This record gives sequence, structure tokens and C-alpha cells, in this order.
Amino acid sequence: MQAFTQYTPTEIVFGKGAELRLADMIRKHGGTRVMLVYGGGSVIKSGLLPRLEGLLREEKIECVAFGGVQPNPLLSRAREGVEKARAFHADMIIGVGGGSAIDTAKAVAHGAANPGADIWDFWVRKRELTKSLPVGAVLTISAAGSETSNSAVITNKETGEKRGLGTDFNRPAFALMNPELTYTLPEYQIACGVVDIMMHTLDRYFTKTEGNGFTAEVAEALLRVVIENGSKAMENPRDYDAMSELMWCGSVSHNGMTGLGNAVDFSVHQLGHELSAMFDIAHGASLSVMWGAWAEYVLEERPECFARYAEKVWGVKNGGDIMETARTGIEKTVGYFKSLQMPVCFSEAREIGAQPDSVAEELALRCSFRETRLVGQFKRLDKKDLIEIYRKANRFNA
Ligand code: NZQ
Ligand code: ZN
Repeated sequence: MQAFTQYTPTEIVFGKGAELRLADMIRKHGGTRVMLVYGGGSVIKSGLLPRLEGLLREEKIECVAFGGVQPNPLLSRAREGVEKARAFHADMIIGVGGGSAIDTAKAVAHGAANPGADIWDFWVRKRELTKSLPVGAVLTISAAGSETSNSAVITNKETGEKRGLGTDFNRPAFALMNPELTYTLPEYQIACGVVDIMMHTLDRYFTKTEGNGFTAEVAEALLRVVIENGSKAMENPRDYDAMSELMWCGSVSHNGMTGLGNAVDFSVHQLGHELSAMFDIAHGASLSVMWGAWAEYVLEERPECFARYAEKVWGVKNGGDIMETARTGIEKTVGYFKSLQMPVCFSEAREIGAQPDSVAEELALRCSFRETRLVGQFKRLDKKDLIEIYRKANRFNA
């Protein structure tokens, strides 16, 4: 086990009616003038946003709403949010929605607390983030884990870059998590969320670190629960228990717990981000497209890790042939993504389709930050490796 620091300061209110605690939580965490950041309108249609605004009015907390955040949220919209938050003198920013609304809330908080700074400079490490405003979250989709994570992912459309920023200033002060708020999700978004929750653990689980027993067991338990309840949620999105399991696992999967003490990998996320930046494909779908190709490409680095995964997560009986067991685990995973109607290669993704090899090369160039970095830890991937994986994903069909 490697040395680690675990810092998950977010106060979580979980269960039916959790959103009714909004005013309490704002006061407790020092907010007096808040901006509510939301997406393309699902929270208006469901009545959640007007309900929250009404609650805050009753409690005499000043608030302003800022919507129009799209999935794979844009830097340009976040910059507009910064202007609005500063004009309103907001002292707390609250994301109402999923990863896109919450990540934009984080970006707005950073910009509002740092007048004169261009927020993109924080994402490209040109400028160090040393202060921000507190952020809160009212979660409506179990997926990205942004409600407790230290990350925020923003797309710069002008440069074609989708980048994550990891900092403790991204940890929300509080998260209100009512599984009933996810009942209105379309099937496709539930499926994207299940893949993303799994991937936040898989990207930590496949590691070169040995002998990290507790963390591995936590990861395996989480994956089993998500797989079972993901299928239940697809059958019945109003299954409170299934939606609760997904919501809680979504947070734990990305708050650090499932990779503590591991050298974590995150290659599949990096590979997927370039697909989203180029084709605007949903984050979860970008991951299901890439995982099988990545897994097959890196399998030989440590087949015993894949074999253990097959046994513990999928119940595969190990007949003594490690490679066979490992491959069965990969097939089961890809088969599960398919059962959720998720794409597992370029041609199955409607936003992408079959592509010429030149596209795999361009994606690899971008993913390697123009050959200035290696990607991942399980196998350190250079541009040549990345090209092979993108090519494989282009044609992959297990
Ligand atoms: O925009 P609205 O109208 O709200 O609709 C959204 C959106 O179309 C809809 N939706 C959300 N809750 C709903 C609902 N529709 C009906 N009923 C509800 N209850 O779902 C769509 C997707 O929303 P989004 O916020 O984009 O989903 P998700 O939570 O999957 O977030 C994805 C974004 O988060 C980033 C991803 O890259 C992507 O940009 N990530 C953020 C991370 C983090 N901050 O820690 C980690 C992740 O790895 C990820 O990269
Ligand atoms: Zn993710």
C-alpha cells in the first residue's frame, strides 16, 4: 500500500427530502447570497428549481439562477457565470443537477473569488488556484461524483480541449442527495451514469500497487452493487432502493475511497475526454467505448489483477488459466455495457461512427498533450500506445 492523504470534507445529506435542507446548509457553510447553477432545463421541468428558489425566498436568502449549462460543460458559459456571480456579489455557488452543473458551479466559484483571473489558466496550470468560494450541490443524476470529488472538468471549445482540474478547492462544502430527484432521468442517462460510476472505481482498481487488500475489497463490493442495481434502475427508474444505491456508490466511487493507497490509472477517462472534446459524446458513453480496447491492450501488464477482478466482481470460476479468466472478466464487463445499450466501439456510438486511422492518430496526439506526457499508471501509455488503443476501439466488438 502506498502512503495517502484522504480529505473528503463534504457534508452529505442523503435521502428523501434532502433538498429541503438547502437553506440550513447554506447558512451553516457561510452563504448569504447564492447563485444556483443549472443545466438545460430538466430542473425547471421537474419543478425542482422553482421549489428551491421558493425555499430560499421564505428563508430570506438572496439568490440568482444561472442556467444553460450543457453536458460536457463549456468554458464560455462558465466565464459568463463568473461575470454574473461577481455582479450579484455571490458568496456561495450551488450546482443543481449533475456533473456539468456542479463542475460549472466550481469554475464559477474559482472565477468569482479571483477577480481579473481567466479561469482557464487554472485548468491549464498557468496559474495556481489559492482561493475560491464555497460550493454546494443538489444532485439530480448519479454519475460523475462531482458532488464530493476534488475534480471539475471543463471544455474549451475554441481549442478543442476537455480538461480536468484536481484541487481541494473543488470539494463541495455540502451535497444534498435525494434519490427521488433522479426518477425523471432518461434511460440513456441512467446507463451513462452507471458506466461512469463503475469507471471511477475501475480506473483506480487496475493498478501496479500490490497488497492493498481493504481498498481492493471496497472497490469490488462497490462494483458488484452498482452492476446489480444498474440493471434494476434500467428496468424501473422509480426503484428507490436501486436509485439510492447508485447515488451513494456514485459519490464513494469518486471521493477517493476506492483507490486509497493505489497508484491510480485514469487512462480510460483521459482517452474518453478526447472523444467528448472531438465528438461531444456523453461522458459515460465515451468511457464504454474505450474500456474494452484499453483493457485488452494493457491486460498483459498484470493479468492476475484482471483475473481477480473476474472472480470477485463477476463470479468467474478460475480454472487455472489466468489469461482465460482475465479475458472472461473483460468480456463480461463489455457485455454488461451492451446490456445497458451503451456503445462499446466507435461505430456503435451515434456521435462518432467508424473513423479513418488518421482520427485515431489525432486523438492520440491530443491525449498525449502533443507528446508532452505519458498517460496512466497501470501501463504508461505514449502516443504510439494511444493510437493503438483508439484504433482498437474504432473496430472493437467483443
Ligand atoms: O441539462 P439538464 O436539462 O439538467 O439535463 C441533464 C443532461 O442533459 C440530464 N439530467 C440530469 N438530471 C436529470 C436529467 N434529466 C432528467 N431528470 C434528471 N433528474 O442529464 C444530462 C446529463 O447531465 P450531466 O450533468 O452532463 O451528467 P453527468 O453527471 O454525467 O456529468 C457529466 C460531466 O461531468 C464530468 C464529465 O466529463 C461531464 O462533463 N465529470 C466530472 C467529474 C468530477 N467533477 O469529478 C468526474 C467525471 O469523471 C466526469 O469527467
Ligand atoms: Zn467519469
